[in-house]
Amino acid sequence: MSGGPNAKVGPDPATTGTELHETGVGSVFVSNYPPYSFWSPEHLGALEEAFNSEPRDGAPLGLYVHIPFCRKRCKFCYFKVYTDKNAAQVERYIEALDAELRAYRNLPAVQGRSLQFVYFGGGTPSFISAKHLSSLAARLKESIPWQGAKEVAFECEPGTLSRSKLETIHEIGVTRLSLGVENFDDAILEANGRAHVSKEIDRVRPWIQEVGFDQVNIDIIAGMIGETWDKWRVTVQKAIDYGADSVTVYQMEVPYNSAFSKQLRDGSLDIPLADWDTKRTWNDYALEQLEAAGYALSSAYTMTRQGAPDQSFVYRDALWHGSDMLATGVASFGHMSGVHYQNAGGWNDYLETVEAGNLPLQRAFPTSPDERLTREMILQLKVGSLRPEYFESKFGVDILERFGTAFDELRQEDLLRIDNGTITLTRDGLLRVESLLPSFYAPEYRRSRYS
Ligand SMILES: C[S@@+](CC[C@H](N)C(=O)[O-])C[C@H]1O[C@@H](n2cnc3c(N)ncnc32)[C@H](O)[C@@H]1O
Repeated sequence: MSGGPNAKVGPDPATTGTELHETGVGSVFVSNYPPYSFWSPEHLGALEEAFNSEPRDGAPLGLYVHIPFCRKRCKFCYFKVYTDKNAAQVERYIEALDAELRAYRNLPAVQGRSLQFVYFGGGTPSFISAKHLSSLAARLKESIPWQGAKEVAFECEPGTLSRSKLETIHEIGVTRLSLGVENFDDAILEANGRAHVSKEIDRVRPWIQEVGFDQVNIDIIAGMIGETWDKWRVTVQKAIDYGADSVTVYQMEVPYNSAFSKQLRDGSLDIPLADWDTKRTWNDYALEQLEAAGYALSSAYTMTRQGAPDQSFVYRDALWHGSDMLATGVASFGHMSGVHYQNAGGWNDYLETVEAGNLPLQRAFPTSPDERLTREMILQLKVGSLRPEYFESKFGVDILERFGTAFDELRQEDLLRIDNGTITLTRDGLLRVESLLPSFYAPEYRRSRYS
């Protein structure tokens, strides 16, 4: 991983497990396994077979809806996002989401199943108008009802919210509202290309409280351009004072397709990026302050307020335990009966395929039982602890034996401990969990491009 004009495109930290110091270009956050770069169109047959077969017994089903519109593209953003679409194009996209879910509903793997969770991700789902949102939700529910879902999560950007739009978001059944605050300092928000300003974060707070969601999460990022200790302390204190049910702290990464990666590689980024040691220290400070304020660890990123009525995160836990998930929207990711898949990543490709009545499937990866075991184990390790008996009963494998060498090495570096049958990351391990995970990968997936 490195920056500057001669930066070579090499393996991502998400597959090398290299101890991270300098912040360079490359994916760090591990969201799935095996790495996306191994998924391909040649596996679409296996996916079709999975869709045309009965589902696995007891496997929960969820729905991911990708809303790829934003007011502005953040300079650190690596998601599929458009900032130039007009109302007619948004309308056409919403039509396509509806058509896509209707194309799923009669498949043997989907028919008759209800949704355990729904996740509106982006881009910025709160970018679309209340009218569009109501009609979209009504049409999606017609195809596959979600009234029985344990969680309906919805990502928002503060500047796109109004009191009435929050009411609509609540009326469609959203239980978990996730606000992309990122930072409370206006100079930092601007330097990183964020659309919203701090007063918009404050303005929406009373509305969110009045409308009353079961759960409110705010995201903040450690290590944004322009960050200093003094400013970070203010952001952390304001995040605590915001009184959300959970606070999620990410360490800023600079993936290949982000604006900062281009500047880093062509040498035009004139403001230094915080290194990983600094980001880990800031992250640790935030966790300590949140703990002191009555929050507790829910994962390496998320702290939940003790006493908050609902402290679960169904979407995350379902995915990390191998749930099925229908993908809708451009470049969206899904999973069916052991087969990972991704939708077409191009705007026209996605729309034209769906409008022709077909599912916009672009690539897939049929996982082996051992890959499913490894996937669940590395993702669940992000919660901070593992119980080997879960894997013994689900996969018939003793993970302490199967991954003995890796666990021993991490234990010797005091990055995790094994006591009374539980594997627990130390704080040091938690703050660098991404770089620990490749130790458990199969050799063919190490030192590769991640996405
Ligand atoms: C999919 S994004 C959607 C955010 C939403 N569009 C908004 O504007 O608030 C979800 C979260 O990922 C985090 N994120 C995005 N890019 C990141 C990066 N390069 N490094 C670390 N965290 C990042 C941010 O905290 C963001 O709130």
